[in-house]
Amino acid sequence: MTRLAGRRALVTGANGGLGSAIAIGLARAGAAVAVHSRRAAAGDVVRDAIRANGGVAETVTGDVTSAADVAEMMRQTVSGIGGLDILVNNAGIISTTPFLELEEEEWRRVIDTNLTGYFLVGQAAARIMVAEGRGSIVNVSSTRQVQAWPGSLPYASSKGGIAMLTRSMALELAPLGVRVNSIAPGTFVTELNRHYLTDPDFRDKRIATIPAGRYGDLDEVAEAVVYLASDDASFVIGASLSIDGGQTIW
Ligand SMILES: NC(=O)c1ccc[n+]([C@@H]2O[C@H](COP(=O)([O-])OP(=O)(O)OC[C@H]3O[C@@H](n4cnc5c(N)ncnc54)[C@H](OP(=O)(O)O)[C@@H]3O)[C@@H](O)[C@H]2O)c1
Repeated sequence: MTRLAGRRALVTGANGGLGSAIAIGLARAGAAVAVHSRRAAAGDVVRDAIRANGGVAETVTGDVTSAADVAEMMRQTVSGIGGLDILVNNAGIISTTPFLELEEEEWRRVIDTNLTGYFLVGQAAARIMVAEGRGSIVNVSSTRQVQAWPGSLPYASSKGGIAMLTRSMALELAPLGVRVNSIAPGTFVTELNRHYLTDPDFRDKRIATIPAGRYGDLDEVAEAVVYLASDDASFVIGASLSIDGGQTIW
């Protein structure tokens, strides 16, 4: 597939889970990919997998909560893959502490990573894209942007924030040639949640809430991101695409 031939994409948190599937999917569609990981060796594994399939990839590093790291990440991206046309804001963390037991530090850590991180990386990437007059940004949100769950308060708050971050960015950047959208994945087994999603009791209860009757496949997320990043979605702006097997229909 060559839908993204000639495009240059940065995917944050791309050393595993949704991020690596998205990075590999974008490369399969023809994009050169900057594989971001805060641990270079972990990013190199995904970079090498892309290269082994004939794709173009470089590893870039940094903590998304640090403006200095983000500036350096952009420098590495532009020098590594020659520019930036596509950003996938994906790096994130989860928290499962019930509201009444939540400490301020945990609240701040989740908001800093999931929301401030998307702002810092999104703004730095958008500045590069606006200078070129074109670009596409996909923010990875979650069903939790609209659907609460016990113990998900900071996570759900961060994802609800991403919903409006996406729409606000989309509004200001559309006239400048940059489209901003989000995806809202449902339930996918990754390092973020493996410890509870694979518990048989939890699994049965969760799957009972998913009309498709199963967890998602990571490639199903990657395909949606390729679509939003590509010119096939040229009139799609400020949208949130659910990829959740119907989990948010209820
Ligand atoms: N899995 C699901 O069912 C699901 C559903 C909806 C939405 N999502 C969203 O999908 C995204 C990816 O999650 P995942 O499930 O693929 O989890 P994951 O495998 O744990 O991946 C998270 C990635 O974010 C990176 N990261 C975390 N904090 C960072 C920081 N401060 N600076 C730089 N990188 C950081 C992690 O790096 P390290 O490996 O170094 O920790 C890792 O690469 C998240 O935004 C999550 O909210 C996931």
